[in-house]
Amino acid sequence: MYCVRKVTDDLYWIGGNDHRLSLFENIHPIPKGVSYNSYALIDKKTVLFDTVDWSICREFLDNLKFVLDGKDLDYIVINHMEPDHGASLEEVLLRYPKAKIISTEKSFMLMRQFGFDIDGKEIEVKEGDTFSFGKHEVVFVEAPMVHWPEAMVTFDKTNGVLFSADAFGSFGALDGKLFNDEVNFDRDWIDEARRYYTNIVGKYGPFVQSLLKKAAPLLPDIKYICPLHGPVWRNDFEYLIDKYDKWSRYVPEDEGAVLIAYASMYGNTEHTAQVLATKLVEKGVKNVAVYDVSNTHVSYLISEAFRVSHIALCSVTYNLGIYPVMHNFLNDMKALNLQNRTFALVENGSWSPKSGDLMEQFIDEELKLMDVLNDRVTVSSSLNETTEKELDSLVETILDSMKK
Ligand code: FEO
Repeated sequence: MYCVRKVTDDLYWIGGNDHRLSLFENIHPIPKGVSYNSYALIDKKTVLFDTVDWSICREFLDNLKFVLDGKDLDYIVINHMEPDHGASLEEVLLRYPKAKIISTEKSFMLMRQFGFDIDGKEIEVKEGDTFSFGKHEVVFVEAPMVHWPEAMVTFDKTNGVLFSADAFGSFGALDGKLFNDEVNFDRDWIDEARRYYTNIVGKYGPFVQSLLKKAAPLLPDIKYICPLHGPVWRNDFEYLIDKYDKWSRYVPEDEGAVLIAYASMYGNTEHTAQVLATKLVEKGVKNVAVYDVSNTHVSYLISEAFRVSHIALCSVTYNLGIYPVMHNFLNDMKALNLQNRTFALVENGSWSPKSGDLMEQFIDEELKLMDVLNDRVTVSSSLNETTEKELDSLVETILDSMKK
C-alpha cells in the first residue's frame, strides 16, 4: 500500500518514516524517529528526486508505483548519495531500467563504490546546468560538504521548489504531517533540527555559508524547500535561514544562555553545578540548562553548545585527567568546529585537582576563538563556604562577560 502526500499539483512526497532505528548513523539517538524524504514529479517526463534508506524501501517503491500510475520512470535526480538516501537506488533501477540518473561526477563515483551498476545511465551535471522535464525546468547548484563532497541541490524554476538535500533537514518522524505550518516547529521541532544540523553538518559551517550565499539570489522565487529529512517548508523561510546562518557561522543562537555540563562521580561536582545554576538564575539569567555528561548523549550536549553563548564545564579529576565523558564532549566540540563561546571552569579533585588546567589547555590549544574566564573554581572533594564564595565571584564574572 502507499502513503504519499502532494507538495504541489504535480509533485509528491513519497518518502517514509522510521521509528525502529535507535541510532542514526549508528551513533545519534533518535527517540522521535526520522523521515527519509523522496519526491516524485509527474511532468511530460517523470522524475524521482533522491531515494530512501533501505529500511523503508518497500513502502517507498509502493509509493513510487502509485504516483507513476502505470507510467515508466524517466529520470532520477540524486542530490545526495549517502546511503540514508541513496541505498534504494539500485532497487529503483531494477524496476525502472530505462531511467537515467542525473547527478554529479563525485556522486557517480560513490554509486560505483557502493557497488551499483549504473553504466549507460549517467547524465553528469555541474554548477548552473539546467534541465527540462517538460513544463518544469530545473537548475543544479553544487553543495559540496553539505554534507558529503558530492552533494548538490536542485531548484525547480517553474514552481519554485528547492530540493535542498541534507540542508534544512531535521531528526523526527513526520507521522502524517508534511509541511512546517502543520507542526509547531519552534516548540516541537527546533531542538531536533538543531541536534541534526550541529551533529551531522556542524563541522562544515563554511560550506553551508557558501551554499546560503549561492542560494540567496533564488530566495525571492523559492516557494517550497524540500529537504531529505523532516518537514517541507512553504513559509517562514526567514526563521529557518536565520537559524542556519547562525549555526553555520558558529554564532550563539541564544545570547546570554548558559549551558552547565557537569561530570560527577559521587554527586559533589553535581551539587556544585546545581549551586552555580541556582546562583545564575537568582542573578537574573533566564536561560540556564544543566546536563550530566555521563547520562546525556553527546549529540544533545553539542546541540546545546551551539545554542548558548556561555558554557560552564564542571569536571571531577579522573586518573589525573579530565573525566573521560567530559573529555569526549570537548573532543566532539573540536570535531564539529564549535567556536566563539565563553567558558567558565569548575574543577574538583580530592588530592590533586587537574581537570581545570587540562580543560583550559584543551580549549586554548584545540578549539578556535574561545574565551576562558579567569575565575576558575577549584573544589576539594565538596563545596564549602570558601568555594561557595568563589562560585559567587565566578557568577559575577560570567555576568560581566555577558555585557561585552
Ligand atoms: Fe541524510 Fe548526509 O544524509
